[in-house]
Amino acid sequence: MYKIAVIGTGYVGLTAAIGLANFGSTVLGLDIDAAKIELLKQGKMPIYEPGMQDLLDKNVAERRLVFSQDIESGIRWADIIFIGVGSPQGEDGRADLTALYNVAEIIGRNLDGYVIVVTKSTVPVGTNEKIYEIINEYNQGNFEFDVVSNPEFLREGKAMYDFLHPDRVVIGTKNPRPVEALKKIYRPLYLNEVPFIFTDLPTAEMIKYASNCFLAAKVAFINEMARVCDSVGANVQTVALTMGRDGRIGPKFLHPGPGYGGSCFPKDTQALAAIARDHNIATPLVDSTIQSNVFHKEYIVQKVVEAFDGKISGKRIAVLGLAFKAETDDIREASSLTIINRLLNQDAAVCVYDPQAMDNARQIWSDVIEYAGNEYEAIKGADGVVLLTEWNQFRNLDVAAMLDLMADKKFFDFRNIYQRNEVEALGAEYYGIGT
Ligand code: UDX
Repeated sequence: MYKIAVIGTGYVGLTAAIGLANFGSTVLGLDIDAAKIELLKQGKMPIYEPGMQDLLDKNVAERRLVFSQDIESGIRWADIIFIGVGSPQGEDGRADLTALYNVAEIIGRNLDGYVIVVTKSTVPVGTNEKIYEIINEYNQGNFEFDVVSNPEFLREGKAMYDFLHPDRVVIGTKNPRPVEALKKIYRPLYLNEVPFIFTDLPTAEMIKYASNCFLAAKVAFINEMARVCDSVGANVQTVALTMGRDGRIGPKFLHPGPGYGGSCFPKDTQALAAIARDHNIATPLVDSTIQSNVFHKEYIVQKVVEAFDGKISGKRIAVLGLAFKAETDDIREASSLTIINRLLNQDAAVCVYDPQAMDNARQIWSDVIEYAGNEYEAIKGADGVVLLTEWNQFRNLDVAAMLDLMADKKFFDFRNIYQRNEVEALGAEYYGIGT
């Protein structure tokens, strides 16, 4: 089997490292972050991701997976190097590729034989070509190597499952030489007839952006429909369900909510818009997706404020769910950021509870907000409850008990989990999204 080094142990890199080890390769997970590597060496997870701990333990115990901070030695040891470092959003919306290009330079300096370099990070079109050039420059033409674009489509909260059960695997290359090795390391998937798409570098890079922007547009679209439904008295849940019955539309990613967040959709839509701008191509759909989502987050803030006749100052608001979606502790670009900050600006008191994201929240708001030990503690004495994340434990709240704890009984169910008539029958004012 191949010796694989994975550089970067964030969501993408760590999932790839564990997943590739689980497929049978010997994998070395590398990161410059000493604290992260130390945790992993102790068998502890640096992120919350269901199912990942078990597979980490299993592959470490079976000696296919180790971690190190020594990136240079790791590069010299490996047959295949995966790059899974971050490509965060820069100030101008473009992806910041500093980390990737640094890694390319280190790879170039340390090559001592043929190696395949596989980019897992989401990168703008042309980046893999640039990675190729950088490695070539620092390697001074001494050794042959190939660069592969192998974008990752995992969802946070389902990272391990998605890596092990992908809808497709995209392999972009400049020439066919690395293809056999890639088929071998993904052999369990290849044998299971997961579609493999072999293509060139720019097409592989573009597939990832087009997919994420399309999904983001789908969510932004149904949220727009929800806003219209709110005004005309229609029910967006029925609209979405029925739209989804059309095979050309499909039912997935049509769930109205408080606006999309996370590390991918906001960043990738911005990055694609920037790529298009650079090439003087207008992308009004992508641009409007971004705007529509920003607008939607403000819309839900307004919904809360208007329910209090614009007088939110001094009101006590409980926020249930801070993560940008369930099953993750990630609050990057989450709607909770917008809504809590707006409420604080208008002098509301905010008390929050999230099953996993409390530590991340403390880093943002420190003692400006209150942190509850569970959902009912957060609700106690509240004038309004705002449900933002669809955690399972928020799906079966004892609504009667919740209302008993509240001072003013306004319930903002921004994931449309509860039925308006049932909640209203218990004496609450109910506010959904388009319902
Ligand atoms: C996404 C893509 O799904 C994944 O393929 C890519 O690799 C990374 O980006 P992720 O960011 O983990 O994954 O979350 P996802 O489940 O796609 O949800 C993104 C956001 O959209 C969340 O805030 C979620 O709550 C929201 N969403 C999603 C909705 O509001 N409604 C939906 O119907 C679907």
